[in-house]
Amino acid sequence: MSAGSAAQASHLLENLHTAVLVFGPDLRLRAINSAGEHLLSASGRKMLGLPLSEIVPDHEALTDMLERALKHRRCYTEWGMELRLNLERTAPLDVMVTPATAVDGKPELIVELVNVESLTRARRDEQLAFLHEAARKSLRGVAHEIKNPLGGLRGAAQLLERELDGSSLREYTQIIISEADRLRNLVDRMLVPRGRSQAVELNIHEILEYVLSVQGAEPPVEFERDYDPSLPALQADRDQLVQIFLNLVRNAVQAAGSGGRVTLRTRVKRNCSIRQQQHRLALQVEVIDSGPGVPAEIESEMFFPMVTGRADGVGLGLSIAQALTQAHDGSIEYERDGGQTVFRILLPLD
Ligand SMILES: Nc1ncnc2c1ncn2[C@@H]1O[C@H](COP(=O)(O)OP(=O)(O)O)[C@@H](O)[C@H]1O
Ligand SMILES: [Mg+2]
Repeated sequence: MSAGSAAQASHLLENLHTAVLVFGPDLRLRAINSAGEHLLSASGRKMLGLPLSEIVPDHEALTDMLERALKHRRCYTEWGMELRLNLERTAPLDVMVTPATAVDGKPELIVELVNVESLTRARRDEQLAFLHEAARKSLRGVAHEIKNPLGGLRGAAQLLERELDGSSLREYTQIIISEADRLRNLVDRMLVPRGRSQAVELNIHEILEYVLSVQGAEPPVEFERDYDPSLPALQADRDQLVQIFLNLVRNAVQAAGSGGRVTLRTRVKRNCSIRQQQHRLALQVEVIDSGPGVPAEIESEMFFPMVTGRADGVGLGLSIAQALTQAHDGSIEYERDGGQTVFRILLPLD
């Protein structure tokens, strides 16, 4: 292998999602990629040269596979092997062991480990995102169909009103006009803006402060700010970011209710994965409230448009927040944590 292609191969290895471990015939670790270090929660430097039995606590099944591969010089595969990765957790892993020959001519074993759980989760997230997008698309179609005749309806009511000069019947034309306006506002909200329109350099705290000022003091809740002052600037569309956090803060305030508490927490995250993309740097914003949490019966559907748990709700806030976050390559997730409700937004910074 030339120096160039060796560098390329090692670059490839480092960026694989699959954990790759290489063992010598003595079953001591010769090489490991970063996905492997991540899976085993240990640094490669500390593990190199160690026997398999010291790297993986419950190693018997794996050792057996490696010995067989070495002896018979053929490939062995096992799906969903439960492996204890460290003291706290076991995980189902797809394991592939391939015998190979090292540069020095000695035999070696290439072990590939794929975390089935995270793969299933990623696949499910992908499917959900697809469904949400489909729901939003059909909603957008309906919105356009409603919007077009609405203008005509409103215009006709205005003309009629002029003819009804001074008549008490104007009360009715007023209802038509104000209801047409209300419907148009609703429809405008259904027409989620698509894609990233104008990315500019932003300070997330300035955005959050603006959102709090728009939200106002009704119902009265206690706002707590837990800001990380060292956050770098963010490239994003200002209006869309305001919309995301306005929707989340509104929900949080409604859930917390009078006398409740809403916390805005910002943090920098390093080396995190957002929607199956690995990012070196990301911004995390949590909107936390002291309310009772999302009702169990809508929890799995709350990000779909028109799903609401409130009598006067429309069910667009979360759907729009999700669409806009995804347009920025970010993710949004919900969690109950110690009696608090957390909506967590991750936005890539690199
Ligand atoms: N912070 C929260 N705490 C509890 N429930 C929430 C929260 N945020 C959203 N929800 C639930 O999710 C539903 C959907 O929210 P959303 O999409 O903003 O629509 P809407 O607010 O119009 O109902 C809400 O009706 C509510 O039941
Ligand atoms: Mg809402």
